[in-house]
Amino acid sequence: MAYAANEMSPEAISERTKPVGNVYTAADLEGIIDSGTAKSNDEPAGPRSGEAVYTASCSACHGTGAAGAPIKGNAEQWASHVAKGHDTLVKHALEGFNAMPARGACVDCSDEEVIAAVDYMLDAI
Ligand code: HEC
Repeated sequence: MAYAANEMSPEAISERTKPVGNVYTAADLEGIIDSGTAKSNDEPAGPRSGEAVYTASCSACHGTGAAGAPIKGNAEQWASHVAKGHDTLVKHALEGFNAMPARGACVDCSDEEVIAAVDYMLDAI
């Protein structure tokens, strides 16, 4: 209904001052709320396991020996690395070392997740 801009009847005033966007139905709002929560539902509950990080980010090299990487489970190949001590291995995994890329090139891995992957490989030898 159209009212003259200067009409002061209660109907005319309420028409002019009604909230913008009051055309959403309950079903529309449900869709909006769902899309807002979808992301948090997809997020992992906590840090990924060493095995999950290894499989996703380390196995390409440490599963095959690509680029000269010591292969997971091969004690002989790991011996000279293990001799450096755990702290050094963790430091090199996080910061990179020769052909070993920092964090295994995993940009979204936390320190904790990279360390879990190191321990996962060390546990296998
Ligand atoms: C692009 C291949 C590549 C990927 C991916 C990769 N590495 Fe490596 N990594 C190497 C190579 C090559 C070396 C051997 C470096 C050397 O000793 O010169 C190495 C060595 C290491 C070492 C021993 C370091 C030392 O001081 O001797 C650790 C620990 C390690 N990697 C952990 C990881 C972890 C954890 C991941 C996954 C998050 C990973 N790497 C992913 C190639 C890779």
